Amino acid sequence: MAAVGRALPWALAAAAAVVLALDNGLARTPPMGWLHWERFLCATDCATDPHRCVSEWLFVEMADVMAAEGWRDAGYEFVCIDDCWMAPTRDECGRLQADPKRFPSGIRKLADYVHSKGLKLGIYSDVGNKTCAGFPGSYNHYDLDAQTFASWGVDLLKFDGCNSGTLELLAEGYRRMSLALNKTGRSIVYSCEWPFYLRPVQQPNYTEIKQYCNHWRNFFDVYDSWSSIKSILDWTALHQDSIVKIAGPGGWNDPDMLVIGNFGLSWDQAVTQMAMWAIMAAPLFMSNDLRHISPEAKWLLQNKEVIAINQDPLGKQGYQITKDKNFELWERPLSGQAYAVAVLNQQEIGGPQNFTFSLTFLGNGLACNPACSIQQVLPASRDWGVYSWVSSLSLEVNPTGTVLLKVVAL
Ligand code: GLA
Repeated sequence: MAAVGRALPWALAAAAAVVLALDNGLARTPPMGWLHWERFLCATDCATDPHRCVSEWLFVEMADVMAAEGWRDAGYEFVCIDDCWMAPTRDECGRLQADPKRFPSGIRKLADYVHSKGLKLGIYSDVGNKTCAGFPGSYNHYDLDAQTFASWGVDLLKFDGCNSGTLELLAEGYRRMSLALNKTGRSIVYSCEWPFYLRPVQQPNYTEIKQYCNHWRNFFDVYDSWSSIKSILDWTALHQDSIVKIAGPGGWNDPDMLVIGNFGLSWDQAVTQMAMWAIMAAPLFMSNDLRHISPEAKWLLQNKEVIAINQDPLGKQGYQITKDKNFELWERPLSGQAYAVAVLNQQEIGGPQNFTFSLTFLGNGLACNPACSIQQVLPASRDWGVYSWVSSLSLEVNPTGTVLLKVVAL
């Protein structure tokens, strides 16, 4: 039997933390949608690459597919524009404007279209005077830009932190944009990268960040690769003492986009991303091409049980209970006296391996006391039946794969 090294008092610490969240009534569960960046980057040449350039057609087509092929009904409601949508200069009134060639109908029309499909529109700007890709940023224009976005009918703002100048300006910009969005009176989810840009220089004050943002990036951009997914998970486990307790309804840690359905992840790695993003109570923004996606990726991304874990109303983020050689055991407290449990196999040699653990380690001894029922959610659903408190469970996990379970106390 694998020894489980340390049982952390996580659940208690999280329960004790009372944190004020941004009071805009939004993101009570982690937001879900689609965001163009990882898959489409800053493709602006629509003449030679019409299907991949960042243009209104890309978002119209994605909205069409999201409504027609079950994505909206699975919970993915935001269609989000990232960097590179703007014209290189503001208009004569100082307002941001969309690139006229790539967005000839304008953002207002695009928002109307997205809304007509029962979806919401997200847009992107930056706290500094230029975005990360060099387009006009919002510095010195926070109120005007918030009003512009609201007048267009935008429902989410991803606010990047490039080119902000000093740390004081970075913090002030994030705070001012939050207040400016609130002042518009429109419900606009506020997605921040504040702690990511702060962290190299100082420890972020998450209590403050949560008062201004609905979710926030802590770590580097996700890439379409296992090494990227692994680095995000390793970083999250290493910093869980400071970030897990802060997450909850209204404010979430954002480990960045889902890259499932692209090119870089094996099936097991895709399962790991989906399972672990559910454990981490992560916003679920896919960045892939929904017009061309495999049935397997679609099944995984639309899996109702894993989405239900991600969206659990208790709103507690999960954490790593132990790491035993190459196996990681994670859990997330859920409503209804239940826990999501993930077993991740980080060993990249030797094929599938067995991991055996005592159920007494789950939920600080409460998850399976005196007994519990265990349902496997991923990689395939399976009923493991009823176990008593003193039982052990033995699972076979593929290299870089994850087995995700739902454990309900009886
Ligand atoms: C930063 C962000 C990314 C993306 C790009 C756009 O790198 O972290 O998510 O928005 O900027 O330029």
